[in-house]
Amino acid sequence: MLAASFLIGGLSAVLATMIVVVDSVVNNYGEVKIDINNGKKELKVNGGAPLLTTLSEQGIFIPSACGGRGSCGACKVKVLSDIGPILPTEAPLLDEVEMKQNIRLSCQVKVKSDIAIEIPEELFSAKIFKGVVEKTNDLTYDIKGVKIKLVEPNEIEFKSGQYMQLVIPPYEKINEYTQRAYSIASSPSQKESLEFFIRLVPGGIATTYVHNYLKENDQMELVGPFGEFYMRDTDADMICVAGGSGLAPIKSIVADMFERGITNRNVWLFFGARSLKDLYYMDFFQDMEKKWDRFHFVPALSEPQPEDNWNGETGLITNVLGKYFKEKMDQNTQKEGYLCGSPGMINACIKVMTENGISEDKIYYDKFA
Ligand code: FES
Repeated sequence: MLAASFLIGGLSAVLATMIVVVDSVVNNYGEVKIDINNGKKELKVNGGAPLLTTLSEQGIFIPSACGGRGSCGACKVKVLSDIGPILPTEAPLLDEVEMKQNIRLSCQVKVKSDIAIEIPEELFSAKIFKGVVEKTNDLTYDIKGVKIKLVEPNEIEFKSGQYMQLVIPPYEKINEYTQRAYSIASSPSQKESLEFFIRLVPGGIATTYVHNYLKENDQMELVGPFGEFYMRDTDADMICVAGGSGLAPIKSIVADMFERGITNRNVWLFFGARSLKDLYYMDFFQDMEKKWDRFHFVPALSEPQPEDNWNGETGLITNVLGKYFKEKMDQNTQKEGYLCGSPGMINACIKVMTENGISEDKIYYDKFA
């Protein structure tokens, strides 16, 4: 069944590429203009290709966690010109409000005539970085730490919590470049290198490459930084929940806050894992708790093993979170939620947080970890 769907997926990708090639040969769209953010930038490009690739060829990088396959929804842009109806390949990833606002998937719509678009200003600073793998290490049996030293450009500016897209080269039967998004785990003060926590996803193109093929001194390309998951500049208590490799952006945020002396806020970090072998970076957060009296670290195991000798919190992270809301946290303070983990964990945590008084627009999350 799975093999059949891969085959169908592969055939559709080949078909889609053939249609693009035939379309641009048969229909010569000539030179067209792209107006970005009401005249902030104007590009003259050859028409016919998808908006996403047309922009990236001009050095403007829109997030594209699925590499333009129409499955991640990260590449949304607001189109101000009439470019025709929503395509069947876009519809599943756009909600009604987005459709009304003319939000489109830039990997699916083609630039066939002059077009005006709006993108977040911060995307002007996303770039391609070339780097070299400085270090890889096993954080758990299925999560690797990867540190990449930047070569060209050799420094990066980003907000803690943001992510980069790693460009995975062809290997084995994968004969095309693939891009996947990974949160940055290092602090923005460390400008010359970036660290990532990458969990092995069975059958995952990028994670299999990172776990089984990537070696120290390998060259690596990255695109970014991207993302809206960063610390909001308020006085509210921060309630952070991380699962698995979702610890990466939270580690970056916590390290960044401490380094910048933003220690007047209460920060609660709930880290959910199955058993002791799934926990990592414990020393870092336990040490942070000693240095920062408003930082509270709560690791919890849902299935502790007898040999774990665990005497910390147990149960689902949502239950632990609910218990702390009622028994340990100040009920009268403003709170914000910061979540990073599986979609299931995030949806369940949003429910617990809203039931405990955090409004949904104050809950920030990254679901791809
Ligand atoms: S790049 Fe993933 S849907 Fe467009």
